[in-house]
Amino acid sequence: MDFLTLAKSRCTTRGFMDKKIAGEDLERILEAGRVAPSACNRQPQRIIVVQDPENLRRVQKAYQTFGSPCVLLVCQDKSDPLVRPFDGKCSGDLDIGIVCDHMMLAARELGIGSVMVGLFDPAIIRAEFGVPETVEPTALLLLGYPAQAFLSPERHQAERNPLGDTVMYERYRESGGLEMSLTNDKKRVPHLDDEALKRGALEAKMISARSIVTAPWVRLKCTYGCDGYGTSHCCPPKTPTPKETQEILDCYTSALLVHFDGKTSPTRVIVELERSAFLAGYYKAFGFGAGPCLLCRTCNTEECVHREKARPAMEACGIDVYATARNNGFPIDVLSGESCEENYYGLLLLE
Ligand SMILES: Cc1cc2nc3c(=O)[nH]c(=O)nc-3n(C[C@H](O)[C@H](O)[C@H](O)COP(=O)(O)O)c2cc1C
Repeated sequence: MDFLTLAKSRCTTRGFMDKKIAGEDLERILEAGRVAPSACNRQPQRIIVVQDPENLRRVQKAYQTFGSPCVLLVCQDKSDPLVRPFDGKCSGDLDIGIVCDHMMLAARELGIGSVMVGLFDPAIIRAEFGVPETVEPTALLLLGYPAQAFLSPERHQAERNPLGDTVMYERYRESGGLEMSLTNDKKRVPHLDDEALKRGALEAKMISARSIVTAPWVRLKCTYGCDGYGTSHCCPPKTPTPKETQEILDCYTSALLVHFDGKTSPTRVIVELERSAFLAGYYKAFGFGAGPCLLCRTCNTEECVHREKARPAMEACGIDVYATARNNGFPIDVLSGESCEENYYGLLLLE
C-alpha cells in the first residue's frame, strides 16, 4: 500500500474479535512507535503493553476497551519536559500523538484495527499499573482485529473537511464557514460535481466561500491591462468592484469551484450548473465564469440581451483566481509560453 492509501485506509475500530495479536506483529507496531520523531529526540513515550485478561479488566475501570485483546498505555515521561520558552507550551503531547499515529498506521498495514483514546481516567491507570508521578498516562491505544470490516478509504471525501477549510497559503484566513457543513451541501446536490465533469470540467470541488479571495489589484489589471475593459456588460466597470464582490461573498458559506482546461467554456458550464443548483433548492446560486463574454459579437453595454446566460468572469469581479484556486489545492500558474498547461476556473456560489 502506498502511504496515502494506507493513511486513508486507517479508521477507528470500536469492536474487536477475540483473537490475539501475533508477537511479531505487536513488535512491528511497537517498532513503528519507536522510530517516531519527537521534539529534540527526547522520546518521552513510556508504553505499557497490556494483554493479560486480568489487567485488561483493570484498564476497563478507566475506559471501555471494545473487546480489545491488547491495550497500549501510552504514557509520557514529564520529569524533564521540553518547554517552549515563549509561551510555556510542552511538546510531550505532540510527541505522543505522533508515536500513536505511527503505531496505528503500522497496525493497519497488518490488518489490525486500533482506536486511540484520550478520554480515560489517568488516575485509575496510574494507580492500577504503578505509573510514577513524573509519568503521565496520556493515551490508550486499543488494538485488535476488527469485528467488522475496515471502513472504506473513500469515506474521507465526506467525513473530512476540504483542504480549503483547513489549509491557507501565505497568511491566516478565517474559515468561519467550517460549521456550515460542506458535506451536507454535497449530500443535497450530489450530482453537481458529477454534472460539472459530464459537461467537460476537469474537476469540481465544494469549497468554503471563505477561501475565495478578492483583491483591489485585480480591478487595476482589468482597467489597465485588458482591452476588454468597458466593452462588455460582463467586464469592469459594469461588474461589481472587489469590495462589492466581497460583500456578495459574505452572503454565502459554500461554493463549487470548477476547473477547466482550454477546451470547454467555463462560463457556459457554470450557467448550466447554476440552473441545476437553483432547481435543487439553492435559490441564491450564482455563477462566475472565466474570460470575456462572447455571446454577442458587439456587446450592447447598456442593456444585456442574454441575461439568462451572460455571467461575469471571476476576475472581472475582483476575485483573485490564482489565490482562490491555490487555497483549494487546484493548479494554476502564469502562462509564460505556448506549451504551458492552461487552467481555467469557474465558480458557483451556493447557499
Ligand atoms: C487524540 C485523540 C483522542 C481520541 N479519543 C477518543 C476517545 O476517548 N474515545 C473514542 O472512542 N475515540 C477517540 N478518538 C478517536 C476519534 O474519535 C476518531 O479518530 C475520529 O472520530 C476520526 O475517526 P477515524 O479515526 O475513524 O478517522 C480519539 C482520537 C484522537 C486522535
